[in-house]
Amino acid sequence: MHNQINKKYASIPLDLNRSNVIYLSKKLMSSKVKPYKDSDLNKKEQVAQMFDTISGEYDGLNRVISFGIDIKWRQKVVNLVTATEPKTILDIATGTGDLAINMAKFNTGKITGLDISEGMLNVGRQKVKAEQLENQVELVVGDSENLPFETDSFDAITVAFGVRNFETLEKGLAEIYRVLKPNGIFVILETSVPTKFPFKQGYQFYSKFILPTIGKLFSKDRVAYKYLSESASVFPYGEALNNILRKTGFINVKDDPQTMGVATIYSASK
Ligand SMILES: C[S@@+](CC[C@H](N)C(=O)[O-])C[C@H]1O[C@@H](n2cnc3c(N)ncnc32)[C@H](O)[C@@H]1O
Repeated sequence: MHNQINKKYASIPLDLNRSNVIYLSKKLMSSKVKPYKDSDLNKKEQVAQMFDTISGEYDGLNRVISFGIDIKWRQKVVNLVTATEPKTILDIATGTGDLAINMAKFNTGKITGLDISEGMLNVGRQKVKAEQLENQVELVVGDSENLPFETDSFDAITVAFGVRNFETLEKGLAEIYRVLKPNGIFVILETSVPTKFPFKQGYQFYSKFILPTIGKLFSKDRVAYKYLSESASVFPYGEALNNILRKTGFINVKDDPQTMGVATIYSASK
């Protein structure tokens, strides 16, 4: 494994202590975990294709696979953000717009939701229309690793279950840092892995067997839910992600594990 890491990151001066090795091996694995193993498309194109395919079923299956607990996690993110009374909010990897719509209900600021999947955004646009929030919420197509916004544009930025799909995590985070205003708040909600017995074992069973089975039975895209659980298991969480945020330049970085650690809310500022 060290040789593999050294080859890929030969240009990076390495201090191969234990935490660096864990971080780099997760980074290597995370970039290799793509939805379609035999596809020639890069990770970003595959992710966009996958979410386009599952966009119609995404909201329903999301509730099923999280047993509805994601609603509680999302509300915590909304509370963190709205407490700062932001006038401009960017929700990255907004998907079908759940978080953007929820924030609009508790805040009068202008909200922009950005995503690379036009299919997910189209579902989101129908929801925005149904809630009569068109004047407050705008959903735009775009890539988190090349944001179409000026530096220091937003008072608050959120990403829910999006960062682990970025092709290059550091590039996405650097772009987020760039467009966030000084003193602005950045909040991530992302899956993480429980570390304590018996939740660790329960989670492994759930993500290895239950999640892919739900995908096989109910999804239009049989491999999508396999990818979602594989990508969750190799993505950095807790202190490892805190450190990546600090390296990007963020300050006041905090992580707050939810529901035995199956998800974590990270907050930071610039
Ligand atoms: C699991 S969904 C999360 C959607 C929504 N935030 C939620 O909480 O339900 C991940 C989303 O990230 C989007 N995504 C992945 N990579 C992206 C990128 N580089 N730029 C923008 N969006 C991206 C996908 O298209 C997808 O809609």
